[in-house]
Formats: sequence, structure tokens, C-alpha cells
Amino acid sequence: MEAAESATPVLDRQPVLSLKGISKGFGAVQALTDVDLDVYPGEVVALVGDNGAGKSTLVKVLAGVHSHDSGTITFEGRDVRIESPTASQQLGIATVFQDLALCDNLDVVSNLFLGREVVGGVVLNEEEMEKRSWELLRQLSARIPSVRIAIASLSGGQRQTVAIARSLIGEPQVVILDEPTAALGVAQTAEVLNLIERLRERGLGVILISHNMADVQAVADRVAVLRLGRNNGVFNVRDVSYEEIIAAITGATDNVVARRASTTAAAAAPAATQDTETQA
Ligand SMILES: Nc1ncnc2c1ncn2[C@@H]1O[C@H](COP(=O)(O)OP(=O)(O)OP(=O)(O)O)[C@@H](O)[C@H]1O
Ligand SMILES: [Mg+2]
Repeated sequence: MEAAESATPVLDRQPVLSLKGISKGFGAVQALTDVDLDVYPGEVVALVGDNGAGKSTLVKVLAGVHSHDSGTITFEGRDVRIESPTASQQLGIATVFQDLALCDNLDVVSNLFLGREVVGGVVLNEEEMEKRSWELLRQLSARIPSVRIAIASLSGGQRQTVAIARSLIGEPQVVILDEPTAALGVAQTAEVLNLIERLRERGLGVILISHNMADVQAVADRVAVLRLGRNNGVFNVRDVSYEEIIAAITGATDNVVARRASTTAAAAAPAATQDTETQA
């Protein structure tokens, strides 16, 4: 992967990934209704919401695990359909699921190149894979003691690092991380947050799912809130308080939140006939 130019302000740029009006139902359960989400190159968008808000479902739509019922997905300016996990990867979307799906008994190199082994003649070119593994980990400023150590003997943070590094081998434009710090201690969390900043520096768009508002405020540029499967506000992290994010997540009827959320909510809501300012 090429090192990207340094991140520039995202506002005047085209999103690398844009979702418009995405809906997805599972039988009687409407998991997503009319969800919009933009991700720009070189930014971290935190996707937050209570249990059952639809975060994982949205990720699975992008990862090609679920197909959506309606709405459009635009990737690098083109309308796309993401019909399978392979299609998602080939498009340039890498998803690191919460369970990481690493092979515990294999070493770091083997995990990084699993299914993508560099073949020199008829045998795997171990030397080349090892060299590339170190390169990749160095670019991410990752602290892994050895690339020949089995995954089983790494810490939670180091495993997360390997899983993220592996996702980069396909040279994605967008990386989705599902709760990357959920099982980690303080120091390991800091390492993973550093890693997320490296991804942003490389010009990738990052979608970070997290329940931890400290992590979100430490690393995200924007926060997109889902509530009951719908958009409930998109905020610049710099302009929003912890309380405001929580209010949007829980649906507390706070005027500030309601006003901030209105830009996104207005598009989805049918025109109301009653006066909107009558509530105290
Ligand atoms: N495969 C499925 N079949 C039926 N219902 C599903 C399926 N997957 C998700 N749902 C439902 O869709 C809704 C959204 O679930 P989802 O897993 O996307 O929420 P989430 O925001 O990821 O929650 P959490 O924070 O608990 O992980 C829930 O009501 C859930 O029960
Ligand atoms: Mg989930």
C-alpha cells in the first residue's frame, strides 16, 4: 500500500463511501430504516448506538454478509452492489469483525498472509512474507515482539493489531472495526487507538464501532448515532459533548440534540403538520 498524502480537511472532498436510505429487515424486525452515512478519505467515523440499534447490521451490509432491502451504496463515486464478502473486499472495504478470526496456533506471518501466500516458484516464499510482515507492522508502528510468534501467545491488543494489519494487505480504502477495544486494558486500548490514527494518516476512511465514548472522543473525527435502526444525528467530535452524544444514543428529548440531529432527521421524517416549537 502506498503511503497517503497527509490528511487534509474532509469537508470539501468527495466521500469514499456513501450510504443513502439504507433499509434492512429481518422478517418482522426492521433493523435499519433509511440510514445515511458518509465516510471521507482520511477520517475516522465512529458509529455508535445502543444495543440493537443496527450497527452490526449496517457493517454486515457493507461487508457483504447481508444484502440491504433498499437504498444505495456509492463507493468512490460509483453506485455499487455488495453481494458477497469477496465483493466487499475487492471493492476496497476491509472489515475486522469483533471475533477477529485469527488462527491461534499459527504465527503472525501465517495469519497475515492466510489465503494470500506469496508463492515463489512452487513453495511459499517465507522470507518475502516475513519481510512484508515487518514492513506492514512497522508502518503501523505496531509493537509485536516477533512475527514468528504464535497468535495464542499475543496479548489482546497485539491480536487486534495483527487483525488490522491483515485487513490492510488487500489495500482497502475503507476499514471497518467492530468494537476493537472492547476486550482491552488501558495500555492496549491506547495502542489500538494509535493504530487507528495511523490508518487515518494513510488516507483511509475508518468506521469505528464502539460503546466507549472516551475512545470515540479520543480518535474519531465525526460520530454517527443510530437509534432504533435510524439515523439520530451526525456530529463533529470537536463540537459535541459526551452528554450530547449520550442523549442522541438514548433518545433523550434535549433541544440542543434535537436541533443538531435535525439536519439528518429532517430528511427522513415526513412533514409534520403540528407546530414543532410547542414543547416546553
Ligand atoms: N440475522 C438476524 N435475524 C433477525 N434479526 C436480526 C438479525 N441480525 C440482527 N437482527 C436484529 O436487528 C436489530 C439490530 O441488531 P444489530 O445487531 O445490528 O444491533 P447492534 O447495534 O449491533 O447492537 P449491539 O450493540 O448489541 O451489538 C436487532 O433488533 C436485532 O435483534
Ligand atoms: Mg452489534
